[in-house]
Amino acid sequence: FAPQILQGKHVIVTAGGTRERLDPVRFLTNDSSGKMGYAVAAAAQAAGADVTLISAPTRLTPPEEVTVVSIQSTTDLADAVLARFPQADALVMAAAVADFQPLTVADQKIKKTADNDELILKLKKTPDILAEVAKIKKSQQVTVGFAAETQNLLANARQKLQRKSLDLLAANDVSQAGIGFNSDDNQVTFIQADGTSDQTPKTSKRVIATALIKRLATILETK
Ligand code: C5P
Repeated sequence: FAPQILQGKHVIVTAGGTRERLDPVRFLTNDSSGKMGYAVAAAAQAAGADVTLISAPTRLTPPEEVTVVSIQSTTDLADAVLARFPQADALVMAAAVADFQPLTVADQKIKKTADNDELILKLKKTPDILAEVAKIKKSQQVTVGFAAETQNLLANARQKLQRKSLDLLAANDVSQAGIGFNSDDNQVTFIQADGTSDQTPKTSKRVIATALIKRLATILETK
């Protein structure tokens, strides 16, 4: 970025897929690679922001000079975000957060037994981090979410934006091949709080991250 549009701003970015532990050797997770979130962290840093990247385990190397906080579960992520959000100017939730977590975590490895042909896992809903953030959000703070949809992209995304009091939502259609999870490319529809939307072409996550950061900076300016 020629002008440092986020100079002096503190931006928190979350990335990767959370891991919900079942026992000491097993967990539930999802297909998130963390690429989108890492690209957003790099773009925010390039725009002059002081960046905290809260990351679930990924294979990626974080951008230099970014403060990295490593987490595993949704509960860890919620704690890390809620502790830091009050000091931040903006939060970009690019992490693919589990919707459910095991009701209990076994202390020992779950065993198969001769009479045990089925195993029923009981799961409970995870806390909705953005909904919790919405409760403590100040008017000058900006929150950005991601939405992975497979149908009714715009309608679902607009609802999500309102429900989570977001300023910006990047929605992508994960049913399309070659974009989204694990891919280097993505295509998103940006939806703003006023309901307006625009779609990016299919392009690299780096280009999409830059477009997102530009919008975030504009929203911060007008607050
Ligand atoms: O409702 P849905 O999971 O589709 O919303 C996606 C957005 O909400 C993402 O930005 C994700 O990081 C965030 N999220 C969250 N807490 C959850 C689930 C998702 O903050 N428990």
